[in-house]
Amino acid sequence: MTQHSSTGPADNSALATVASRRDWWRDAVIYQVYPRSFADSNGDGMGDLEGVRSRLPYLRDLGIDAVWLSPFYASPQADAGYDVADYRAVDPMFGNLLDADALIRDAHDLGLRIIVDLVPNHSSDQHEWFKRAVAEGPGSPLRDRYHFRPGKGANGELPPNDWESIFGGPAWTQVEDGEWYLHLFAPEQPDFNWEHPAVGDEFRSVLRFWLDMGVDGFRIDVAHGLVKADGLPDLGSHEQLKLLGNDVMPFFDQDGVHAIYREWRLVLDEYAGDRIFVAEAWTPTVERTANYVRPDELHQAFNFQYLGTDWDAAELRVVIDRTLDAMRPVGAPATWVLSNHDVTRHATRFANEPGLGTQIRLAGDRELGLRRARAASLLMLALPGSAYVYQGEELGLPDVVDLPDEVRQDPAYFRGAGQDGFRDGCRVPIPWTREGSSYGFGAGGSWLPQPAEWGELSIEAQTGAAGSTLELYRTALSVRREEAGLGAGDSVDWLKAPEGVLAFRRGEFVCVTNTTGEAVTVPAYGRVLVASGEVTVAEGEAKVPGDTTVWWTTA
Ligand code: GLC
Repeated sequence: MTQHSSTGPADNSALATVASRRDWWRDAVIYQVYPRSFADSNGDGMGDLEGVRSRLPYLRDLGIDAVWLSPFYASPQADAGYDVADYRAVDPMFGNLLDADALIRDAHDLGLRIIVDLVPNHSSDQHEWFKRAVAEGPGSPLRDRYHFRPGKGANGELPPNDWESIFGGPAWTQVEDGEWYLHLFAPEQPDFNWEHPAVGDEFRSVLRFWLDMGVDGFRIDVAHGLVKADGLPDLGSHEQLKLLGNDVMPFFDQDGVHAIYREWRLVLDEYAGDRIFVAEAWTPTVERTANYVRPDELHQAFNFQYLGTDWDAAELRVVIDRTLDAMRPVGAPATWVLSNHDVTRHATRFANEPGLGTQIRLAGDRELGLRRARAASLLMLALPGSAYVYQGEELGLPDVVDLPDEVRQDPAYFRGAGQDGFRDGCRVPIPWTREGSSYGFGAGGSWLPQPAEWGELSIEAQTGAAGSTLELYRTALSVRREEAGLGAGDSVDWLKAPEGVLAFRRGEFVCVTNTTGEAVTVPAYGRVLVASGEVTVAEGEAKVPGDTTVWWTTA
């Protein structure tokens, strides 16, 4: 097996490691920190940057390469920070710019990279531009930086077109003077008009601000949404939800977005240090996702087709092949992701029937879900390319499906018919210790209540515990990087396997995933490197239990 692509000289200093690994992102494992829910340093029940900084050694020891931080900018928090009022300021609830600076420096000292979230599709309605645009009234040039329109109907009482908000209800809200503005998400998140040059100028300046602060890259929120079809045409269909993600929409995945990313790439490339962009682009197909990662555009795009695949060997194989085939021609690494802050955690998705999608409100069979989640994670980490891990998945955390209504904060929940609505369940603060207030999350409570059994799932409880999910991740991440170089390459060789079983070879490495509920017998390919369940080997054969992944080396 080829080793991962370290090109620098041997050097013990972590900083030198960061500086010397070119193309580090091609095989990186990137860990998503949701700052509200990771660690709370001041006991106010809300996570913060100082909390993240103080826990960086945990992340280094876990064996990840980079941390992606969800937004921590000044924001009224109408959508948990994805409504940004000031792109160059830290919200006081998370700290200040000095805290951000200290976090970036400490991460680099530990050999970790920092990727920040950029939200260019929309601002907060409390952004200076939007507040002034509303205050100045129709005709204000600031209104051109957003999408303001007169309404339809005799008195302009109807929205300008038939688009719906992703969170439910019309995508338009009327202001007092009668004009309407477009918001693909909550009304507090007005969409920018990317046809206006000031918008592009502003975002290139924001990129530079954070690049100058030393960040290693950006995750681009709603990267597929910036450009809207000319004239904002009606969709002409009342089934928007069914079309979403399955078709190019007049507001999603328009070809015009790519010109923006080519410009951004020029800005990024002015900076030393191998920095990256990763797109959150929900496109209909992996082939269309590949457009975002052409050589002069972005570096990576989340593989939502993979995230949306049920625990089914045949379906997984198809999406793995299609992904690798789609990325190869553009030369971008495939990415793999199972969970994030917008979907039900995979331990809960896989605890339920297939076909329910990524928003599930049922606990399902927790034990089964965990067994499958561990197997799924090991499969993901065996694939070539870059993998994303969402905080808490290394603990096997399930979604909290029974949060009381009064604590919920997901804006979609309050808008009823939207696509999501139950994202709070994957955002509950993670447990660090067995006991104590908020299980070590902080000295106070936690902004969403944690289930009583989370003490036993804590980092403290799982550290050093044989067979724990945390130790499984640690071993897998170390083997992936140090021993087998699994992030390298762009293909897998499928091996013959029983129905419901995936088996592939990559040089001297073999991965076998049994997605059936029953044990299967496969050849003993060599030495077991790591397994998500108890594998027994005898006389050249191995018995792999149901819902289990095993890694082998034939060396
Ligand atoms: C992205 C974010 C999500 C947010 C939405 C609007 O999909 O991941 O959390 O609600 O954009 O910004």
